[in-house]
Amino acid sequence: MEVEMDKLVSLCKRRGFVFPSSEVYGGINGFWDYGPLGVELKRNIKEAWWRDNVQMRDDMVGLDCSIIMNPKVWEASGHVGGFSDPMVDCRASKERYRADQLYVFVYIFPAVNHKGEPTEAWLAGLGASPEDAAEAPEKRAAKLAKKFGKPTAPPTVIPYMQIDVADREKVIGPSTEDRGTLTEPRSFNLMFKTFVGALEHESNVAYLRPETAQGIFANFKNVVDTARVKLPFGIAQIGKSFRNEINPRNFTFRSREFEQMEIEFFCRPEEAPEWYAYWRKARFEWYTSLGLKSEKLRLRDHDAEELAFYSTATADIEYAFPFGVSELEGVAHRGDYDLTQHMKFSGKDLSYFDEERKERFTPHVVEPSAGADRATLAFLCEAYTEDEVGGESRTVLKFHPRIAPVKAAVFPLVKRDGMPEKAEAIYRELKKHNNVYYDEKGAIGRRYRRQDEAGTPFCITVDSQTTTDDTVTFRDRDSCRQWRVPAAGAAQALRDLLEG
Ligand code: GAP
Repeated sequence: MEVEMDKLVSLCKRRGFVFPSSEVYGGINGFWDYGPLGVELKRNIKEAWWRDNVQMRDDMVGLDCSIIMNPKVWEASGHVGGFSDPMVDCRASKERYRADQLYVFVYIFPAVNHKGEPTEAWLAGLGASPEDAAEAPEKRAAKLAKKFGKPTAPPTVIPYMQIDVADREKVIGPSTEDRGTLTEPRSFNLMFKTFVGALEHESNVAYLRPETAQGIFANFKNVVDTARVKLPFGIAQIGKSFRNEINPRNFTFRSREFEQMEIEFFCRPEEAPEWYAYWRKARFEWYTSLGLKSEKLRLRDHDAEELAFYSTATADIEYAFPFGVSELEGVAHRGDYDLTQHMKFSGKDLSYFDEERKERFTPHVVEPSAGADRATLAFLCEAYTEDEVGGESRTVLKFHPRIAPVKAAVFPLVKRDGMPEKAEAIYRELKKHNNVYYDEKGAIGRRYRRQDEAGTPFCITVDSQTTTDDTVTFRDRDSCRQWRVPAAGAAQALRDLLEG
């Protein structure tokens, strides 16, 4: 089913997945806090990534680098010179837009000029999405239609940047009030700047890292010298990155502070195409293994114009979010660009010596670079389901058990006959292995619904039958099927279900 973004955002707030940052002060655009359920969900995603890509492999090691690094790192990487977006300001609304993410919506009407000759009247709206752009002119189009008759063609949406900026009045026509209020596009560097030390002087400028990747390249030699790694091998890192995005939007999708899960996989140059193909496939399959199974998950290869100049191949793993198809992860064949740049700027030798072949060379790198927040949002969108149980509608988050924030909830049916004590004993036992939840308040049906909304895969209930045969009821979140399990075997049964 297609989740509506408003419903998801409201569920996230209501159930404690995601809150606007510093909300009591009115929030701050582009920053989000993960609540009690959200933090478990995101941690499970990061832990699944670490386990599958680092712990379970023999050719991967991890790193945890500092967020602020020597600013020369960002000169070498190209971020000081080139990490910028084209930006325009709207003088009327005081909004700031990324010019390459603006859309123009155009109607063309038949009209007559002052000499009585047939001509065209243009009506255009501008917005940060095709829907935004369409909104304003759609209302005004009805008025114009009364004056001029029907538009000569169906309305079209064109990306702002494809319009010749120097010639824009000519392209769009004189009736474009919205465009008339925009400044010319200019370059805006996305790195957050700060000062290291007491002196707020240009010489002390430093940056919050805009990606975790450069910490890996800067440590390449340290890892080779200390970790007894041999090509091919990868270095993985999970951590916060910061980008002063011009207009953060679509909930957590484009934030100013976010977490990345990045791998730099180093190999011999001639083996890089094969490793690229391997990671492109492996990373796609990782998402499906955790439940992103629908046709909403896509793999898109960049065409030649889209490729960075140093990359011979790049693919995006994309997800069809309610606000459009957007990138979850990029897998890029980066050649030897990064290590070569760092050698140039640092003057240090970052080449690799192959002991067996007695050869020295600069390794090539394949980079699968994912966002933990975007993955979390995609898993939330995919899991969100509204269905009916026994004639009653419910909202359920159908998370894969590996990423579900709470693995099981334990309930006594009623608060008497020793049921709470028995349920609590089971809860204490399960808690040793998993994040589980205990609840004895309210009608059992409502307790089930609350867990459905939290995405808890299993509920375990102690009821009157427990007092006679010492079994408990297990309930499956998705099918609502119930079955009985000996109380003493509840922990093992849950483990089997979670692993199965
Ligand atoms: N080292 C390569 C790199 O950083 P990127 O495509 O700029 O490449 C990689 O970023 C991933 O980081 C993206 O696919 C996305 O998941 C995440 N990401 C980037 N910018 C983000 C933002 N503003 N908010 C949330 N996630 C972001």
